[in-house]
Amino acid sequence: MSDRVYFFDTTLRDGEQSPGCTMNLREKVRLARQLDTLGVDIIEAGFPAASEGDFESVRAIADAVERAQVAGLARALPQDIDRAFDAVRGARNPRIHTFIATSPLHMKHKLGKAPDQVLAMAERAVRHAASLTPNVEFSAEDASRSERPFLAEICQLAIECGARVINIPDTVGYAQPGEFAELIAFLMETVPNASQAVFSVHCHNDLGLAVANTLAAVRAGARQVEVTLSGIGERAGNAALEEVVMNMRTRPAYYPVSHGIITEQLFPANRMLSRIIGRPIPATKAVVGDNAFAHESGIHQDGVLKHRETYEIMTPESVGRSGTDMVMGKHSGRHAVKSKVEAMGFRLSDAEVDVVAGAVKRLADIKKKIYDEDVEAIVLEEVFRIPDKYRLKHLHIQSGTISVPPTAAVIMEVDGQERKLATFGVGPVDAVFNTIAEIIGKRPTLEQYLVNAITDGTDAQGEVTVKIEHGGQRAVGRGTDADIIVASAKALLNALNRLEKKREDK
Ligand code: KIV
Ligand code: ZN
Repeated sequence: MSDRVYFFDTTLRDGEQSPGCTMNLREKVRLARQLDTLGVDIIEAGFPAASEGDFESVRAIADAVERAQVAGLARALPQDIDRAFDAVRGARNPRIHTFIATSPLHMKHKLGKAPDQVLAMAERAVRHAASLTPNVEFSAEDASRSERPFLAEICQLAIECGARVINIPDTVGYAQPGEFAELIAFLMETVPNASQAVFSVHCHNDLGLAVANTLAAVRAGARQVEVTLSGIGERAGNAALEEVVMNMRTRPAYYPVSHGIITEQLFPANRMLSRIIGRPIPATKAVVGDNAFAHESGIHQDGVLKHRETYEIMTPESVGRSGTDMVMGKHSGRHAVKSKVEAMGFRLSDAEVDVVAGAVKRLADIKKKIYDEDVEAIVLEEVFRIPDKYRLKHLHIQSGTISVPPTAAVIMEVDGQERKLATFGVGPVDAVFNTIAEIIGKRPTLEQYLVNAITDGTDAQGEVTVKIEHGGQRAVGRGTDADIIVASAKALLNALNRLEKKREDK
């Protein structure tokens, strides 16, 4: 058996399906490129038959990704498979990933099909997919609750029909590590043609065991792991890529396997995801959280100073947290900005580089040191954003310890038309939100408001994330600025624009 474990990233499919994690096309392409830089072997770009928008995103990712394989998900239906192949065919190495449920529960209640009918559908689907590309993956949905003999039978059939990857999902996060490892070992021993396929696992985290189950399966012989950045995904999410790979890297004797992940890209990739979906990485998140390498207690600090390994099993550098390099200043020209953003993995047009260079210059007027994080925030803010119905032009705030109530004067564009108004609020943020609500004629509920400093220092840019609800729909918005009130206004408008986009897409 080969010792190479293939990383199949499904952040853009299973991850994107989870509430509050929707991304627009440009954001998906940007993240796909970062996943390529991170070294994942396969990028599952989406579910092309789900909607026109999904199809277009998968196609754009297939065109943009330079190295990794690009997979499109399809139900075991010929029309889904055709659609998936149309979307990924432009990739250097396209994959069709087709699936059907195999547990008695799913077959009866979800599909309303007898086991024989499911076998027939799987056979037809895999044969059809294999007629389009040799790179076919078959998934037995809810495998961990399926009957073993039936599961073995369908795996054998899928391999006979041309599947080269057999994925065993723990769809509802029900399995326990020991029994899941046994299931993989059982299939690899029992399925007569098992050696013609790579066995893969796809674990959900409902009981908090997704990473443990994935790693147990690797020890049992699975050689593809389906994972997502920060473990985002349906319900409680999927196995977190960074946790799976850092277990392998930190415990090589326990996991005698190789992989292609460049672990130094883990933090940049997770940070990019967090910025895109507007959800901060929790401080205690394993591997990439802010506290993962912070030593607070005196005993621990003393230990680390004397010998790092006393309390550090991996280094911050190994996951890409080597501190922040100062990158740009007031005098950095367009060329410096261009080469910086390229080194960070962004591919921008000349016009976009001009926009970023202008924003870097404006920031350099008010902030002494500009870090990678600042430049990244500018690119995501200025370039990777959805078309704006609402756009902020000017904002003036009056607040403080005076007796006049906090006031916000806002000039903004609504569909290209300039509107202006000034109103009051309990505090400056409230005043801004009230004024914007008056201007646009709708008042969304603010469900979440978070402020974060992007780098250290009082001159750091503030990053504001808001979650709003209006008419039963929710959207997350993000805004960055050296002034957190301006960042708050930008975040609200970003969320409102996303809400509009959702309505249009519907
Ligand atoms: O969880 C699951 O079973 C899936 C399949 C489509 C692989 O996401
Ligand atoms: Zn899943």
